[in-house]
Amino acid sequence: MKFDRPETTNPIDQMKVVGQPVRRIDGELKVTGNATYAYEWQDPDGPSAYGYPVGSAIAKGRITAMDVGAAEASPGVLAVVTTLAVGDREKGQYNTAKLFGGAEIQHYHQAIAVVVAETFEQARAAAALVKVEYAEVQGQFSLADGRDTAQKPKDVDDTPPDTAVGDFDSAFASAPMTLDEEYTTPDHSHSMMEPHASIAAWNGEQLTLWTSSQMIDWWRTDLAATLGIDKDNIQLKSPYIGGGFGGKLFLRVDAVLAAFAAKASGRTVKVALPRPFMANNTTHRPATIQRIRIGTEQDGKITAIAHESWSGDLPGGGPEPAVMQTRLLYAGANRMTSMRLAALDLPEGNAMRAPGEAPGLMALEVAIDEMAEKLAMDPVAFRILNDTQVDPENPKRRFTHRNLIGCLETGSERFGWSERRRPGARRDGNWLVGMGVAAAFRNNLLLPSAARVKLDREGIVTVETDMTDIGTGSYTIIAQTAAEMLGLSVDKVVVKLGDSRFPVSAGSGGQFGANCSTSGVYAACVKLREAVASALGFNSDDVVFENGEVRSGNRFAPLAAAAGVDGLVAEDKIEWGDLSKTHQQSTFGAHFVEVGVDVATGETRVRRMLAVCSAGRILNPVTARSQVIGAMTMGVGSALSEELAVDTRRGFFVNHDLAGYEVPVHADIPHQEVIFLEEEDPYSSPMKAKGVGELGLCGVSAAIANAIHNATGVRLRHYPLTLDKLIGGLPEVA
Ligand code: MOS
Repeated sequence: MKFDRPETTNPIDQMKVVGQPVRRIDGELKVTGNATYAYEWQDPDGPSAYGYPVGSAIAKGRITAMDVGAAEASPGVLAVVTTLAVGDREKGQYNTAKLFGGAEIQHYHQAIAVVVAETFEQARAAAALVKVEYAEVQGQFSLADGRDTAQKPKDVDDTPPDTAVGDFDSAFASAPMTLDEEYTTPDHSHSMMEPHASIAAWNGEQLTLWTSSQMIDWWRTDLAATLGIDKDNIQLKSPYIGGGFGGKLFLRVDAVLAAFAAKASGRTVKVALPRPFMANNTTHRPATIQRIRIGTEQDGKITAIAHESWSGDLPGGGPEPAVMQTRLLYAGANRMTSMRLAALDLPEGNAMRAPGEAPGLMALEVAIDEMAEKLAMDPVAFRILNDTQVDPENPKRRFTHRNLIGCLETGSERFGWSERRRPGARRDGNWLVGMGVAAAFRNNLLLPSAARVKLDREGIVTVETDMTDIGTGSYTIIAQTAAEMLGLSVDKVVVKLGDSRFPVSAGSGGQFGANCSTSGVYAACVKLREAVASALGFNSDDVVFENGEVRSGNRFAPLAAAAGVDGLVAEDKIEWGDLSKTHQQSTFGAHFVEVGVDVATGETRVRRMLAVCSAGRILNPVTARSQVIGAMTMGVGSALSEELAVDTRRGFFVNHDLAGYEVPVHADIPHQEVIFLEEEDPYSSPMKAKGVGELGLCGVSAAIANAIHNATGVRLRHYPLTLDKLIGGLPEVA
């Protein structure tokens, strides 16, 4: 099915099942421990052997020698596979760094060997005995130092690194009110709960791999290239995933090591990356330096806006696209954005939840707050004044649907924004109390997505697609979609995901998963409805699917009757026309936060949070809310505590565990509220839905920074907003 004109009405509009707060259909499996995650599969042919990785001890250079004699002689050891033995390998198309193979070292903790043994402890002990000699080369590890030599990168997803409209320089020079500030965000780690893990089993030339992947087909393609085998010889399974946040978008080395280790040992082998590997072996969100300039009229209308961003990556990598939202969020006739990329020898930087917008809004939405303050305007009113219904860089392109103003107004009212006082004016015991606001913005991306649906003679519909559920609720919204299309209740639908034998879906990423994968299921269900009508001899134009029955005029039959003995099968794929080129599709929101800052210690506690989202039809308010509160929680982390500390001499992230890399825990998170504005976007898909999973993160950290300013009068521009940066500016305590 090609989606190339705005949707009119379709069976999803009934909203009998879609849009309802259906509980997760996989919830019981998960809370009872019966959902089998990557590391938990049991090979029917016998117990697995264990693989333990060895990581490079240097950040840049070459391996000159490896001695695995002691490791091989260690108790229980079945095989040792080294990067030298497997030799240079083709790199996956989605990876910047090579995962495994050859003597070259591109970053610290790059995998250089895997030791296979009967038990995990034996493998780990033997891994410590692998001796390696290196020829080390001094790398470049500091973004601040690399900034001056940073280069203009190649296009990011078909968008140029630089844009310009009007004449920014003269408009900024002549603006009566201006702001020119610099902001920094640190490197962030995905730190999802489930580590990267894979089990590999070979049967002749056939490889079965259980793993934890957001994108089944990307992984399968890149694994085939790395192993040098045909993609058809690999079956990949990833039905349950304990979080990804972008860290599992691209093939990771646990899969590669498990495959080589299983081949070498002749056993089924399981490999999980130990937690300390996750910071330096896998990808991370790169640090940024961002300069923002804004010029306005006296009345607050923006006349000039510029956003420049610097980030770093391994040679061949790309920038953190932190300026993207600034191209679209606010009006202003004269504007420019630019991204520059420094070559760094740190581990690969790559996508982490809302790549671009998440760190970009951490800067932009503080700058907007600062500008409003200079203008003595309410920051909500300042944002509303500068709203735009067209793409400001290309005014012929309208937004398909944009209700940022509605988010700001609804949020103000529900949060009690009118209670906000001037900076430093509210006190609650030892706490200085303040409120902050920020806009949320994230684009709506579209990827093709296919599905297969089967109707059996019991009237059960089974959906198969290689879509993944990374904790998001994919199983549930896909069941709701098929149920709505076929006039069934959710318990009559079976959903099978995360297997490369199923049709290729959009996968989970870029907050496109929900809208795209359900649209693929919609397309397949349209075909199944036609097949049902034809099997029953009904006219497919007026056929109605309701309560397990199919009706046409005054004829009706049970849905199951159409299945016959063999059942009915239909398969289709949603493909996208030019609607996302002719129109701008984005999602919007507003975050409101109240914080308390301890007047003596500078400790910040978040006291209340509210998100209001304008993001098309909400397919399931329970799973969508869960996405948004999870994202708000992540925004508390990136505001207050998360930072990968770089050792700029040796070139690695020092705090490579969950003790040193601090993410919020329950006690850090207050009452959270989420409001979804009632809407549908007929340009986005037949589902009229968009994404919320990344939108929920966008802007949260800036709202916290702005609330801290309102509480204390101290303006912080360098994340994380730790107490050491605050304490000097706090008022004297009596
Ligand atoms: Mo997302 S960073 O595309 O999983």
